[in-house]
Amino acid sequence: MAGIVQFDKVDILFPGIDDRAARGRVEAALKGLDAGKSRNDLIASNGVVVGAADVNLEIEQGEIFVLMGLSGSGKTTVLRAVNGLNKISRGRILIRQGDRVVDMSRPEAGVLKRLRNEAVSMVFQQFALLPWRTVRRNVELGLELRRMPAAEMRKIVDEWLDVVGLLPWAEKYAEELSGGMQQRVGLARALVTNPDILLMDEPFSALDPLIRNKLQDELLSLQRTVRKTIIFVTHDLDEALKIGNRIAIMKDGRVIQVGKPEDIVLRPATDYVAEFVKHMNPLTALRAASLMKPVGEVVGADGAHRFIDRDLYEIELDADGRLAGLHCRGESVGWCDADSEFVRTAGNVVLVEAGCLLKDVVEIRQMTGRPIFVCDGGRIIGFCGSNEILDALTHAGRSAYGDGARSGSDMSKPMLANSTL
Ligand SMILES: Nc1ncnc2c1ncn2[C@@H]1O[C@H](COP(=O)(O)OP(=O)(O)O)[C@@H](O)[C@H]1O
Ligand SMILES: [Mg+2]
Repeated sequence: MAGIVQFDKVDILFPGIDDRAARGRVEAALKGLDAGKSRNDLIASNGVVVGAADVNLEIEQGEIFVLMGLSGSGKTTVLRAVNGLNKISRGRILIRQGDRVVDMSRPEAGVLKRLRNEAVSMVFQQFALLPWRTVRRNVELGLELRRMPAAEMRKIVDEWLDVVGLLPWAEKYAEELSGGMQQRVGLARALVTNPDILLMDEPFSALDPLIRNKLQDELLSLQRTVRKTIIFVTHDLDEALKIGNRIAIMKDGRVIQVGKPEDIVLRPATDYVAEFVKHMNPLTALRAASLMKPVGEVVGADGAHRFIDRDLYEIELDADGRLAGLHCRGESVGWCDADSEFVRTAGNVVLVEAGCLLKDVVEIRQMTGRPIFVCDGGRIIGFCGSNEILDALTHAGRSAYGDGARSGSDMSKPMLANSTL
């Protein structure tokens, strides 16, 4: 197995009352599922609810993998199966823990407990802090089961409280904290055991939009240092696109598309996904690499100067593909990296990394008025001028309001579809 978590044809069915006939009802429902019966058919015929059906996923070490879908689509069901809180009716989930692989469909005694105590932690939507414990004692919770000496525990807990910015609040109680702060405690509590895998079930959904945005940024910045495998559930596509390295879109218990944010946005697999994409915000969904004009289209095979961006600029690359010279109307022009203080200096062309968000590309373009070069490890791989930026901004409009999705009564849609900038 290549990833850290693998779902292999997983079905999770809820038989209702857990009586002696439950397994029989599940078996019958599985047969019905194979015969193509719908969720509603199965509820009606034997009272079994399909939580997840035929889920196949390979989640890689160190990625943020997002499960996205409407309420009831099966996200929580799938998530909770990873740490054994939901029983797998058929198929298997494999989890790599060091050099061992745990089969969650039939975990050996003790293995499940160890997995939950050491390898997998969970962050909940409603924070789930214990109201009678202080912030510090809430974070200690995960370590208490390990019978760690108090001083050592205190040291680790305080380090994590510091990371989430709550050390001064250590002796406060949950009710004295804002929602955002409570969720930071939830995050510290999940990380304190140093798990390999972090399960997050709509962790920011109960927060106000501004706080939610801030916590998303904090999670992304934290992830750059901790590099955990995070399985993140959300019903919000913008959040999924911002947070996820890859996204699985779920509907009626099934995964209908898995891909990078760009794949989902630019190549929705079904009308259903396209309908979702129609409402997304391209500024935080698209990245420089997916909107740029690839360098191959502007530089000849011999690497010679070529005119780009409305014939104003001429670029020169060295043998390694790095920018060696840049001219605007024959005059030599300087350049700098996106995080350099020179970005604000007029007259510089900016080099951004491939993963730079469209919103940052727009801002830099606005600040400099110059084209933006896209790099991958120093090598120039493309560039974004006004045309590329405008194309990216209107692409969402074109793909979303294109064939079939237009409604005659809504005038705004055809207008957007026809607009060419
Ligand atoms: N413990 C349970 N018992 C019975 N049905 C359940 C249980 N958990 C979830 N379901 C059902 O499974 C389906 C998927 O639910 P869930 O995974 O919670 O969706 P989501 O997290 O995407 O909102 C729903 O129809 C829900 O009612
Ligand atoms: Mg849920």
